[in-house]
Amino acid sequence: MLKNRTALVTGSTQGIGLAIAHALAEKGAHVVLHGIETQAQGDAVAASVASQHGVRAAYVCANLANAEDAVGLVDAATLALAAPDILVNNAGIQYTCPIESFPADRWDAILAVNLSAAFHAMKAVVPGMRARGWGRIVNIASVHGLVASVNKGAYLAAKHGLVGLSKGVALETATQGITVNCICPGWTDTAIIQPQIDLRAAKFGGDRAAGIRDLLSEKQPNQTLLPPQRIGEVAAFLCSESAAGITGVALPVDGGWTAQ
Ligand SMILES: NC(=O)c1ccc[n+]([C@@H]2O[C@H](COP(=O)([O-])OP(=O)(O)OC[C@H]3O[C@@H](n4cnc5c(N)ncnc54)[C@H](O)[C@@H]3O)[C@@H](O)[C@H]2O)c1
Repeated sequence: MLKNRTALVTGSTQGIGLAIAHALAEKGAHVVLHGIETQAQGDAVAASVASQHGVRAAYVCANLANAEDAVGLVDAATLALAAPDILVNNAGIQYTCPIESFPADRWDAILAVNLSAAFHAMKAVVPGMRARGWGRIVNIASVHGLVASVNKGAYLAAKHGLVGLSKGVALETATQGITVNCICPGWTDTAIIQPQIDLRAAKFGGDRAAGIRDLLSEKQPNQTLLPPQRIGEVAAFLCSESAAGITGVALPVDGGWTAQ
């Protein structure tokens, strides 16, 4: 149970982040949702999470591509609800392109949102977690934090970086009741992979199901797009007392991808 804990989940108005917010709220945690939607749109998502699970929820808008927003996020979440006992760095973006034509501004944005924002948030939450003697940090990396694919230079650098950073912070906090782990999802059914599905579908005259089959057959042995809830449930487990002995781990939830 996570009763009386407060969680901050970045990028949580949709997709994996929203599934994590629901999974934590289901265990009794109060949740600060975060995104780039307007305050009114985010407040509506927060109200829905709060009423479904009988917890308190709030929404903070912050563009994590902007360092100032990223540095201020934990303070904004604390102001909105309470100091986070649980931090889930989930916000992420993707752009695929061969290295020789990879736009430098895409590189900068991917590194900022997928890696630097997690650094800023961890830096801000650890002192409070230390003072309270309890904390859970879950960073949503990717199979691409463990292995590579073509045309994903910035994403690979950010996600491999996030895995390394998480291991380091896990060691720095290991005696203080704090755990720091990564989840490394394979193909999961959310908006971020739609451009890649569209590209594949185009090979089959726009047949989306055929595009998804093609994508999965290449690397994901279970041949199934993961529902975001699968990641949410694993995140909630890593935040539980049962997982108190797990820290510094990069856990694949990938249908067998990295077993190959
Ligand atoms: N879907 C997959 O197959 C898959 C696989 C491995 C890892 N992941 C990772 O899971 C995480 C969640 O992605 P998702 O699959 O739910 O996709 P998604 O596109 O639905 O969610 C991404 C979230 O990041 C937020 N975000 C994007 N740009 C932002 C910015 N500038 N500032 C603040 N927030 C921003 C969005 O608002 C959104 O809530 C990402 O880190 C992604 O890299 C996804």
